[in-house]
Amino acid sequence: MRAMVGLFLSMALAAPALAQQVTYRKDIRPLWGAKCSACHGPDAPYLGEFSENKDKYKAIGKGPRMDTYADLLFFIAWPDTGAIMRRLDDGKNAKDGKPGNMYSTLGATEAERQKNLARFKEWIGKDAWTLKRRDAITKDELARIQAKY
Ligand code: HEC
Repeated sequence: MRAMVGLFLSMALAAPALAQQVTYRKDIRPLWGAKCSACHGPDAPYLGEFSENKDKYKAIGKGPRMDTYADLLFFIAWPDTGAIMRRLDDGKNAKDGKPGNMYSTLGATEAERQKNLARFKEWIGKDAWTLKRRDAITKDELARIQAKY
């Protein structure tokens, strides 16, 4: 009986968590549209083109294009491993305490920025938020990344 109650309770507690799983389509795409698309949208250069002509694009305020799920993954997994995390991080766990330079675009107020950062973190996955680059990330850390479509 107690086991049943326990099972019921854990199912009841787990259900809302599942229903609220953060996905690209449901959560990140709209958030990205509101906060990032002006500079990373279809009129921005693809990563390869951007990387070869950084100064040119920085001068006109364009970052690399990341307007599809696939393009966005470049900045999470490969080749720009952890770029989304480094740029959006609030700096609270960093040695110098400095936020990433895209953190400010997450919202007009600190409360909004924190809320949207939390959403990105949840999307990336539990314990998967790392600022490490491609040459430093471990296989285990990479495997934690969810970033569900
Ligand atoms: C006002 C324009 C603007 C907005 C809004 C903006 N960015 Fe950027 N972003 C840039 C520019 C310009 C660069 C390239 C210069 C640099 O590296 O800082 C850049 C660079 C980046 C990079 C590094 C890409 C790389 O690997 O070189 C990432 C990741 C990034 N932005 C993510 C985001 C995300 C996510 C958002 C929305 C939450 C966002 N940016 C909002 C202009 C913007």
